[in-house]
Amino acid sequence: MYELSPSILSADFNCLGEQLALLEREGCRWVHIDVMDGMFAPSISYGMPVIQSIRKNSRLFFDIHMMVEEPGRYVQAMKESGADLLTVHAEACTHLDRTLSAIREAGMKAAVALNPATPLEAIRYVYDKLDMVLQMTVNPGFGGQSYIPAMTEKIRELRKRLDEAGYQKVDIEVDGGVNQKTLDAVLEAGASIIVAGSAVFKGDISANIARFREKIGTYAQGKEG
Ligand code: DX5
Ligand code: ZN
Repeated sequence: MYELSPSILSADFNCLGEQLALLEREGCRWVHIDVMDGMFAPSISYGMPVIQSIRKNSRLFFDIHMMVEEPGRYVQAMKESGADLLTVHAEACTHLDRTLSAIREAGMKAAVALNPATPLEAIRYVYDKLDMVLQMTVNPGFGGQSYIPAMTEKIRELRKRLDEAGYQKVDIEVDGGVNQKTLDAVLEAGASIIVAGSAVFKGDISANIARFREKIGTYAQGKEG
C-alpha cells in the first residue's frame, strides 16, 4: 500500500482545521500527527485535546507518531481521541511486545518506530504484532531537518528482512527530510508510506501534494501493476 502522510508539525496551527480540509480536497487519505513529550524528543508538540478536536471535522486516517517515553500509558486515551494507527518507539518502551499487543487490542493498527541509530534487531521478535514499521530518517524532534543518507541502506535491509520472514504486508513508513530530492531513494529502497512535513506545508500546499502524489502513484503502478 502506497500513501502520502503529510505531517502537520509543519502546518499553520492558526488554521489547522482548514489545512486538514485542504489535504482531503487534494486527495490525501492519511495525516501524520507527531506527539512529543519533551523527554523522548527534545521538543513538545500537542496531544489528546488537539487530536480530539480535529477528529470532529476530518475523515483522514490518523497516523499518530508517539515520540513519548512509555507510550503504553496513552494507548486507551489515543484510541478515544480518534487515532487509527499508533506508532511507538522501540527505544521508549520497556515492554515493547506488550505495548504493541495493547494497541491492537484497543482496535488500532500498530506500528513501531526506530531512530536512525537503532539496530533492526530491536524489532526482530515482534514482526507478528506489526502493521507497519516507521524508520526515522532524521533524529526525532523537529521538522525541516536533512535526510540522513545512511538510512537508504537501512530501509532496504529492513524490507529484505520483513520479506524473508514472510511479512510482505508490513509497510515501511519513512519520516524526516523527505522531499522531491530524496523521495526516489526511499521508494526505491522499499518505503511505501511517505511522511513529509515541510515539503508539503512550505509554499504552495496543493502543488506540493500533487507533485508527491504523482511520483508515488507512478511508482506504485510500476510495482503493483
Ligand atoms: C520529526 C517528526 C516528523 C517531522 C518531519 O521528529 O517525526 O514527522 O514532521 O518533518 P520534515 O518532513 O520537515 O522532515
Ligand atoms: Zn513523525
